[in-house]
Amino acid sequence: MPALLDVRHLNISFPAQAPNPAALRAAGQPGAAVPTQTLPAVRDLSFSIAPGEVLGLVGESGSGKSITALAIMRLLPPQARVSGEIFFTQNGNAPRDLPTLDDDAMRQLRGSRIAMIFQEPMTALNPVMRVGDQIAEAVVAHNSISKSDAWQRAVDAMNDVAIPEAVRRARDYPHQLSGGMRQRIMIAMAIVNRPQLLIADEPTTALDVTIQAQILDLLAELRTKFGLAMLFISHDLAVVSQIADRVAVMYSGSLVELGERRDIFQAPAHPYTRGLLHAVPDLKTDRARPLQTIEGTVPALHHMPPGCAFEPRCEFRAPECMRALPALVEVAAGHWARCPVVNSQAS
Ligand SMILES: Nc1ncnc2c1ncn2[C@@H]1O[C@H](COP(=O)(O)OP(=O)(O)OP(=O)(O)O)[C@@H](O)[C@H]1O
Ligand code: SF4
Ligand SMILES: [Mg+2]
Repeated sequence: MPALLDVRHLNISFPAQAPNPAALRAAGQPGAAVPTQTLPAVRDLSFSIAPGEVLGLVGESGSGKSITALAIMRLLPPQARVSGEIFFTQNGNAPRDLPTLDDDAMRQLRGSRIAMIFQEPMTALNPVMRVGDQIAEAVVAHNSISKSDAWQRAVDAMNDVAIPEAVRRARDYPHQLSGGMRQRIMIAMAIVNRPQLLIADEPTTALDVTIQAQILDLLAELRTKFGLAMLFISHDLAVVSQIADRVAVMYSGSLVELGERRDIFQAPAHPYTRGLLHAVPDLKTDRARPLQTIEGTVPALHHMPPGCAFEPRCEFRAPECMRALPALVEVAAGHWARCPVVNSQAS
């Protein structure tokens, strides 16, 4: 069976901002000619998602998770430069490369076959529109349907996401609902047209821990009920471990490790993934001792090392790490890592 989503060699870059003339004057170079530079925000990213599968995409802030999601949805700002292929296979059809579709074809897929829950749920809802109308609007956009039928579909979707008294709450405005209920509305809006793929960008980050757990349970339930595949984005490995079948770890715009959840959590190969796992507290963690952290900071986009981006922070670095971006190599069946040093130790 072909993958539902197959991302191949995705690169995303942004033009560097023109330097501030005041800063140039202060540096004693008022008329300096500055070469145009592009900032590589995502480099050579490949992964796939099978129908009904949940892929967790993890990485620190700025690692490129949201822009990857936006590239799939074709919602990046116009200045972004994108290359690579993003194949999506709609029920029973041949795979189509999303970046090559015309705008109409893309509009038809977006919000119906592929839906997204955005990282800022509170700003994604219209404050002056009843939540039921907002969900019904998503139905009308993709179906020839009467207003009253669309409203009924909205109420059904609110029942699907377990909003109590859905008929009454559909008439509420966003500010009348709690953060957890608003997130359920966002999910209802995303699933109302029965997508095959749901991209959930940090869907629980803004919520407190108990509500977070309820939303994760809800997503897991919807996934089983509707056979929904998901790209589940989070900076939090502990959250990803609760829902993902496979996990992709990003660092500074490149995929450093990809594998089954068990591989990633029990036999991590890449030094960055290992460092991340040591930084996650669990019930056995001694709360009196500080958590282990990864020394150093993520490189800035305009100072990206030519080789492995993790090299300045890595205790295993070797000269070969600095030459070029290391290749992603299969270290065990279905388990990939981008680290020649670790690979040579494993073989
Ligand atoms: N419109 C833009 N112009 C220039 N650079 C951008 C733009 N949008 C994103 N970037 C840069 O691309 C990189 C990746 O950003 P992205 O939002 O995907 O990170 P993220 O992994 O989602 O982080 P977070 O966990 O904070 O949400 C960052 O360095 C960011 O500054
Ligand atoms: S490629 Fe080299 S620097 Fe990068 S993680 Fe592996 S050992 Fe460390
Ligand atoms: Mg983000």
